[in-house]
Amino acid sequence: MRSLAWIIRATKENDILLATNPKSGTTWLKALMFTLLNRKDCPITKDHPLVTTNPHDLVPFLEFDLYANNQVPDLASFASPRLFSIHLPFTSLPKSVHESACKLVYLCRDPKDVFVSFWHFANKLSPQNVEIISFEETFHKYCKGVSICGPFWDHILGYWNESLRNPEKILFLKYEDMKEQPRLHLRRLAEFMRCPFSAKEETEGVVDEILELCSFGNLRNLEVNKDGKVSTGAESSAFFRRGEVGDWKNYLTAEMGDQLDEIIEEKFSESGLSF
Ligand code: A3P
Repeated sequence: MRSLAWIIRATKENDILLATNPKSGTTWLKALMFTLLNRKDCPITKDHPLVTTNPHDLVPFLEFDLYANNQVPDLASFASPRLFSIHLPFTSLPKSVHESACKLVYLCRDPKDVFVSFWHFANKLSPQNVEIISFEETFHKYCKGVSICGPFWDHILGYWNESLRNPEKILFLKYEDMKEQPRLHLRRLAEFMRCPFSAKEETEGVVDEILELCSFGNLRNLEVNKDGKVSTGAESSAFFRRGEVGDWKNYLTAEMGDQLDEIIEEKFSESGLSF
């Protein structure tokens, strides 16, 4: 079996990687980035690929394609520039990613919302006969840095610090900023991905068309995402829950919220990054 390092080494110079901690809004970014990159070949019509395909099947995870399904993705079948997704921490990226000219987009989200989103997701995916993960126990572990991709602070800070050192290489985005100023950040994303909006597209309202196509309300209500499954077997609907900022307030006690805020303060105060 070929290693992940081999696969990443095999990516082309103009490839783009989307990196996220799970439940940070990966599905949304996959939809936006796929649509941006392919908008010449796939204009926004009722036949757009997103209408019939979940974003996760349009932009595959490199590490899951390899390890979960035990098969090497057919890299040659992807149109160039190719778009892949990863949940790997920055420190786990092979040297070839740093050495090549491929670009990275990192999306982060308030760790409190990520925790609540993850807990719902994990429970939704667990088979019926498996005990549901306890909220308190999972929270306790999350605070200690025990989560699927390692401590959330290490994951975020790895990409954040590198984005400051090398902004041409890494675009660092926040879910909350995208929600607040979607047009601004979509334009930044398009420029970073080397496919900026033309004046004609701006006049024709393509920015808003893409945002509407990829909006939570639109994607969630498509048949494919209501009833379908993604290629890994997970229900598509599991990727669309509430899509809101601050939903943690409905699940974490004030004490839990304070506890996570203290950790966030301790870990991020010197970074210049806040939530
Ligand atoms: P919630 O559980 O808070 O609703 P990921 O895609 O990384 O797995 O993250 C999933 C989270 O992103 C879920 O958050 C989900 O509802 C939200 N999400 C999915 N699609 C979205 C979209 N188009 N716009 C905004 N949020 C979206």
